[in-house]
Amino acid sequence: MEVVLAKHAGFCFGVQRAVDEVYSETLRGGPIYTYGPIVHNEEVVKDLERKGVRVLDSPEELPEAMGGTVMIRAHGVPERIIREIDRLGIRCVDATCPFVKRIHNIVSRESAAGRKIVIIGNPGHPEVEGIMGWAKGSATVLESEQEARDFVCDPAEEICIVSQTTFNYNKFQDMVEIFMKKGYNVSVVNTICNATEERQTEAREIAAGVDAMIVIGGKHSSNTRKLYEICRQECANTYFIQTVEDLHLNLPESVRTVGITAGASTPNNIIEEVQNYVRFNF
Ligand code: F3S
Repeated sequence: MEVVLAKHAGFCFGVQRAVDEVYSETLRGGPIYTYGPIVHNEEVVKDLERKGVRVLDSPEELPEAMGGTVMIRAHGVPERIIREIDRLGIRCVDATCPFVKRIHNIVSRESAAGRKIVIIGNPGHPEVEGIMGWAKGSATVLESEQEARDFVCDPAEEICIVSQTTFNYNKFQDMVEIFMKKGYNVSVVNTICNATEERQTEAREIAAGVDAMIVIGGKHSSNTRKLYEICRQECANTYFIQTVEDLHLNLPESVRTVGITAGASTPNNIIEEVQNYVRFNF
């Protein structure tokens, strides 16, 4: 079977970097903790657990890590968490993605200069909670056009708008336009990372040119579902699987080429397994 594997399948640059850093820390020895799961993938978290890496879920659990190392994942954390780790004298390895770190720096600088911070993103997302936590003073999170329309502030105030890295670009533009029309004094920094869009664009292109398409990712992963929907529009034979075990495909005789892509939290070894299976078993 001819297989077309997406180059942008699976982990983005920031997540791959954070996962690699945890694995290299395990070689150093000593207790290691990640603040939140390093990636939303059970296989990876379990594998790290076997290597002695524990997950901390809240600031209250930080003292348990005294004498060890705490790793910050790609999404980043509020400044107060870094301060707390420091205060407790715990070694910290900050694997915040540089693109997220850039937003922290903007928010910190602009709020210190007296600007009101508006974050366009999902208020429940850990990345957004992290970004909020770098503002000196409060920050407002807006997720929808309606919320942008409802937003009011003193016209004398200067506003700095940033976005969650994975926010939809068109929606971001529409929301910014609403702000512009209100006549507020706004500076906008587009902080959307193109990893998600690149993955989606490539998946669409591959799906349009193959006889069958396989999308790998967690059942509850919304970005994988989105990839599946995009591929499905281009290729009727699109399959959503979690691991190679789900791959009991009865591909029609006419299928000559199969495309493969994967959601943002799917590790390379799972993608490899699926690829090899399809290549040699069909
Ligand atoms: Fe990934 Fe960093 Fe972009 S974590 S989605 S490369 S902002």
